Amino acid sequence: MIDSHCHLDDRKYNGRTKGLVAEAARAGIDLLVTIGADLASSKAAVTIAHQFESVYAAVGVHPHDAKTLDDATMERITELAAEDKVVAIGEIGLDYFRNLSPRPAQKKAFEQQLALAVALKLPVVIHTREAFADTVSIVREYAKDLRGGVFHCFPGTADEAQIVFDMGFHISVGGIITYDKSQMAEMVTQVPLERVLLETDAPYLAPEPHRGKINHPAFVTLVCNKLAKLRGISPEEVERVTDRNSRKLFRLGDTFEG
Ligand code: NI
Repeated sequence: MIDSHCHLDDRKYNGRTKGLVAEAARAGIDLLVTIGADLASSKAAVTIAHQFESVYAAVGVHPHDAKTLDDATMERITELAAEDKVVAIGEIGLDYFRNLSPRPAQKKAFEQQLALAVALKLPVVIHTREAFADTVSIVREYAKDLRGGVFHCFPGTADEAQIVFDMGFHISVGGIITYDKSQMAEMVTQVPLERVLLETDAPYLAPEPHRGKINHPAFVTLVCNKLAKLRGISPEEVERVTDRNSRKLFRLGDTFEG
């Protein structure tokens, strides 16, 4: 099984990366994508990916940190993106919920990094919160030149998911689908499984019964089981289809065919 989105460098883990990767392997998670959020975590993601065969990396500057994306940082992100095992640019996007960077800075950083993804032919990992319309209108300008991407921890309705699919993009779902009466759980029963990736966003958003605690990549199995239950199919079927989606989008491992 694949965890398509985690943050192995997060300070909540205190550098216990080896233990997390080993625990994930014991739970049957054979591939993980660790995602950058600023320059430091992007560097860390690449370092971790070089340390562990099962780990791949995405590099990018999160909308929260958009104001840190000056020319020198953009240059470093561009260099990191060319490294072996970097499979995507992310996470990038817009967050109008917390507004930790001014909106014009968020939009500029988002566009610069979408252009980088186009130039390097990499897919993108998108974070969007309370900013769906602006996110879509920006992505739409780049969509035909992009190698696709994923709207991670997708916060929208099934109709909004359709807008994402129409641009050739995927969505990913995580622990929130295990929470009582979550909109994400309802949405994910109404979309084609061929467009869905599994993620944890670990150490954040732990699935039940770990809600409120530190999330681990190994817990993606709980997301898989819940998605199977919601859709009335077997966990094996969810794993088979969502793994294929992740492998194809991020070109992971050697075993992907077509
Ligand atoms: Ni994340």
